Amino acid sequence: SLKLAIVGGGSTYTPELVDGFARLRDSLPIGELVLIDPAAERLELIGALARRIFAKQGHPGTVTTSTDLDAAVAGADAVLLQLRVGGQAARNQDETWPLECGCVGQETTGAGGLAKALRTVPVVLDIAERVRRANPDAWIVDFTNPVGIVTRALQTAGHKAVGLCNVAIGFQRKFAAHLGVAPELVRLDHVGLNHLTWERGVTLLDAPGAAGGREVLPELLAGFGKEIAEDLHLPLPVIQQLGVVPSYYLRYFYQHDTVVAELREQGSRAAQVAAIEQELLTLYADPALDTKPELLGKRGGAFYSEAAVQLIAALLGTGGGSDVQVVNTRNDGMLPFLPDDAVIEVPAVVDAAGVRPLPQRPVEPLYAGLIAHVTGYEQLALEAALKGGRERVFSALLAHPLVGQLDLAEQLTDRLLAHNRQYLAWA
Ligand code: G6P
Ligand code: MN
Repeated sequence: SLKLAIVGGGSTYTPELVDGFARLRDSLPIGELVLIDPAAERLELIGALARRIFAKQGHPGTVTTSTDLDAAVAGADAVLLQLRVGGQAARNQDETWPLECGCVGQETTGAGGLAKALRTVPVVLDIAERVRRANPDAWIVDFTNPVGIVTRALQTAGHKAVGLCNVAIGFQRKFAAHLGVAPELVRLDHVGLNHLTWERGVTLLDAPGAAGGREVLPELLAGFGKEIAEDLHLPLPVIQQLGVVPSYYLRYFYQHDTVVAELREQGSRAAQVAAIEQELLTLYADPALDTKPELLGKRGGAFYSEAAVQLIAALLGTGGGSDVQVVNTRNDGMLPFLPDDAVIEVPAVVDAAGVRPLPQRPVEPLYAGLIAHVTGYEQLALEAALKGGRERVFSALLAHPLVGQLDLAEQLTDRLLAHNRQYLAWA
């Protein structure tokens, strides 16, 4: 049986993962789940709930907790990274100061996303190094945002790592529900970068894993366009005209100024999430609670436990055969207009031999331009995260399609540095 480690195991999100592990234990037989977190008190609270969830669902595995990463990852078959450097407080900053410059405040997109990358990459690389020292065979599955940049950092440093996001599995589940079929029968033609993707096609398979199938995106758009557009907060005509389904992150590009105006009114997502987390922690402290509470559904991470189980089961060879899943991994020529070491988010064959992205048909200029542009930004963001320096931060911002102007990049650089000095060793 398997040993799995979760770095950031003290997160309020962890019960989502634990619930998935319990429900889907046939494909991923876990013997030991170790939750690792520097916040000892919270870790004990989450650990106790995780044990109750396993017990309630008759899961035979044990749940342990540890504040000692090096010891805890020894012998792990897979290590999940779901940490947030600086917590919701740092996220709140990322979502706030860009608005002062008329730019979107978001935790992965734009200047706020750069701040998060700068704080996160060194921490994740240090953890990955320690994982490799303890257990060079372990797979590292990264949920830590910004997933594209973090995965690129990990893969460039030669780690056995893959990045994961729930956007694709979310679409798969929604489309399956519209079609009235099992999600396993729906395969996405999903292309782009993490949080910058489009569904260019949707194939309905005759059986799970079967070859062939039928293209159903036009009928999905005709029958459920209104629901799909509403979910994404995008106008229906746009989706009909494009004939593709962008992820909701494309709204930060396609309706940037509108979103900025909304965000100025609304207050940050971090503030909402902090309030949800307070409530969750109160619920979790109740020794009678032995299921994942409804309230956790108010977080953005729907289905992320299922995506994780599918991916880890395929990588560790416990899920039965190979599987096609949307992951973040090295481009290696799949999108010929990007460097090989760019990290893309596309369907890939995943099995015990690793992750092999599926060949992509040529990407239309409407999407390819933005993908290439953001890839340039991601490369510069990674360089800034690895080497530091105001100029590198400035360059990354100048390269971002949502910034692009000298004055703006200067102002954003100043604010980013002012708000993040305590997290940046070089600043
Ligand atoms: C989605 C994204 C994640 C992101 C999350 C935010 O799940 O795929 O990358 O972390 O939303 O959710 P939150 O509830 O923290 O706003
Ligand atoms: Mn994501």
